[in-house]
Amino acid sequence: MAEVLGVLCSGRGTDLQAILDAIDRGEVDAKVAVVIADKPEAFALERSKKAGIAAVLVDRKKYEGRESFEEALIEALEKAGVTLVVLAGFMRILTPLFVRHFAGRIMNIHPALLPSFPGAHAHRDALAHGVKVSGCTVHFVDEGTDSGPIILQAAVPVLDGDTEETLSARVLEEEHRIYPKAIQLYCAGKLKVTGRIVSIVE
Ligand code: GAR
Repeated sequence: MAEVLGVLCSGRGTDLQAILDAIDRGEVDAKVAVVIADKPEAFALERSKKAGIAAVLVDRKKYEGRESFEEALIEALEKAGVTLVVLAGFMRILTPLFVRHFAGRIMNIHPALLPSFPGAHAHRDALAHGVKVSGCTVHFVDEGTDSGPIILQAAVPVLDGDTEETLSARVLEEEHRIYPKAIQLYCAGKLKVTGRIVSIVE
């Protein structure tokens, strides 16, 4: 049975769009049942409506604590029958409550070569550190921050004069290539996780 994806976003949703486009092209054998945003202005909600997919706002501001917010996320995902949770520019750290509920079934993309530069300012931190190569990482989500088992990575050069904008644009091209690929590997049952090592099995 094909995987049912629930995509969580906070912003413009270009990673979401790349996943939707890859599904349309037949490159990912899954369907997106619901897109959830944590803020009303997230353009990802418009993208999902345009694609005819349920767009749900779970406004973080309307919830007092993280637990009640995450319970609302879980309820919306379960209602949609989601089997794989895909974080696509979702700028919140999930607590063990959420992570345990979907244990082993949450993926994230991070705009740096983890374990370097976790957190919310990856490009700024990479530029400040002076690295010559950066990139992106797709990983399973565990109870830490950007610390779960790594599925795929792609590297891009950091060029003289790069700004957060120019670097993020270069990294984003790779994100749009590897995120659908990682999701398809999961959907095809080709990811074997042993501890924190992910192998791709044929
Ligand atoms: C992407 O670069 C993604 O890697 C990053 O947010 C951007 C979302 O772009 N995610 C994180 O930083 C998660 N900590 P998008 O809204 O256009 O898909």
